[in-house]
Amino acid sequence: AAAHHGRAGRLTFETVAPNTLDRVTVPAGYQSSVVIRWGDPVEPGAPAFDVDKQTAAAQSKQFGYNNDFVGVIPVPGDRDRALLVVNHEYTNEDLMFRGFTTMDALTVEQLRIAIAAHGLSVVEIERVGRTGRWKPAKSRRPRWNRRITALATEFRLTGPVAGSALVRTAADPSGRIVVGTLNNCAGGVTPWGTVLSGEENFNQYFVGGDAVAADVKPKLNRYGITTTARYPSGSRKWDRAQERFDLALHPNEANRFGWIVEVDPFDPTGRPRKHTAMGRFKHEGANVIVARNGRVVAYMGDDERFDYLYKFVSDKKYIDSDAPWARKHNLTLLESGTLYVAKVTGDSDPAEIDGTGRPPADGRFDGRGEWIKLVSGTTSYVPGMTAIDVLTFTRLAGDAVGATKMDRPEDVQPSPRTGKIYAAMTNNTNRGTGANAKADEANPRNANKHGHIFEITEDRGDHTGATFTWQLPIVCGDPAAADTYFGGYDKAAVSPISCPDNVAFDSAGNLWISTDGNALGGNDGLFATPVEGRERGHLRQFLTVPKGAETCGPFITADDRSVFVAVQHPGEITGASVDEPASVWPDGDFAKPGVVVTWRTDGGPVGS
Ligand code: FEO
Ligand code: CA
Ligand code: CA
Ligand code: CA
Repeated sequence: AAAHHGRAGRLTFETVAPNTLDRVTVPAGYQSSVVIRWGDPVEPGAPAFDVDKQTAAAQSKQFGYNNDFVGVIPVPGDRDRALLVVNHEYTNEDLMFRGFTTMDALTVEQLRIAIAAHGLSVVEIERVGRTGRWKPAKSRRPRWNRRITALATEFRLTGPVAGSALVRTAADPSGRIVVGTLNNCAGGVTPWGTVLSGEENFNQYFVGGDAVAADVKPKLNRYGITTTARYPSGSRKWDRAQERFDLALHPNEANRFGWIVEVDPFDPTGRPRKHTAMGRFKHEGANVIVARNGRVVAYMGDDERFDYLYKFVSDKKYIDSDAPWARKHNLTLLESGTLYVAKVTGDSDPAEIDGTGRPPADGRFDGRGEWIKLVSGTTSYVPGMTAIDVLTFTRLAGDAVGATKMDRPEDVQPSPRTGKIYAAMTNNTNRGTGANAKADEANPRNANKHGHIFEITEDRGDHTGATFTWQLPIVCGDPAAADTYFGGYDKAAVSPISCPDNVAFDSAGNLWISTDGNALGGNDGLFATPVEGRERGHLRQFLTVPKGAETCGPFITADDRSVFVAVQHPGEITGASVDEPASVWPDGDFAKPGVVVTWRTDGGPVGS
């Protein structure tokens, strides 16, 4: 093994080779361990997990399914304790219940278990010795542990849509209190120590779209809700457990999902909030940066083929203090502001973009962009739509202003070192097919299987501004293929990468990228690359996850000693089941999603 004596921040780890092993693989000189897995106790009184004795009551106190976003928030004043906040995006009933046959054959209690397995977990964790390893805190009554579920946790709507007619229901005539959160995908940690979580593919939980009023159907359709049949294909049939998921009876219930959720992990009994000022779409996640003028700016992707990139600029300014009065103020920052959508143009002759991924004559996929203002407070800038319409049907507003159709915008995050913003365009195999939009300089490959990274530099470094430049630092795929690009770096030295999904930064500003759906054939994994200087684009694989899994998170702690990833849907391979698993990670019996921490055995900074 090579000596790990690199400068902090210089990436010197040994590249992990692509593989299809049923394990987590890390570089030489590193170790990894499972922090927590599906079914592990979270809330006091949670029973030990027993796959044959699952109940909704137990699941409501146990770690949920399909961990996605991971945030690690230090407990103030204690370097060795932190709160692990995790999204539980969705469920794989075939991998959860023995003898699974069809969704229709699930009992109502099994449906309720699945609903309870959605949401988030807050888990107090503690450092093991003086290492970068973490495990759940030993205390029997941890102060902050909490399961937030789709089944029962109440959320409060904030912002202009709260209380409006579009979100009132029979169960909530106030239009302000929503039960549950759905399909929480990526997210971010705010400077004031809360977590933002994106409600992504909420469409799949609703039935009865065929019975709504004719003028409502196009709005449901634009969000992927089936309006031609009672049950969408692959329906989760949740209406059998909770009537509110039936749009024929409760047509506004769907309008109460698709928001950015803010969870204060230090408030274990409070209602988390859904911020309507940040718009409603299939939110991948949101990440905040404090602009020079003190306003906070959240960057956000709408994960759908040909959908848009957005940013939200707060009205109020961040107060850089941990004092309770300051934190109380900061907790209101995302409740009012201005929402923008991105429109981008290339600087090369469009005729040079032939859809193959071949670079144009200037050698770069790059250009300029504009943030188009959609709504500010209760003022709409979209003709024919009120502010409440724009915020509730944000995709239609983006359509109306001619926003740029992107190749599935997933996680978007500003670099804390440079302020440049990095967005993962995961893939778009429909680009250039049929009547769909053809390749453009920002999405330069037709039938884009492997995705790319989109880098934004705000003009004058002003995150609140309306114009920017952009580049594609990485066009993913097999580095040996002509249609890939790695910042101009020697492609013989980089790792193959496909379907970037989540992005994160270490304290040195290196970009870490996790993947979902590796179309090159190996397992998914985690990669790291410098984005500045001569090493820009020198991307290498740091970790791989077990069979059938997607790599989520990732999160690098502020002390650079630990890398957290979520191993989502291990064993998710057609035909697999609890009884005949395709993966037996992590315990050797059947697959369980879990959060993994990786650290350097010698205690040094990860990556270096
Ligand atoms: Fe849930 Fe866009 O990934
Ligand atoms: Ca160009
Ligand atoms: Ca994805
Ligand atoms: Ca994702």
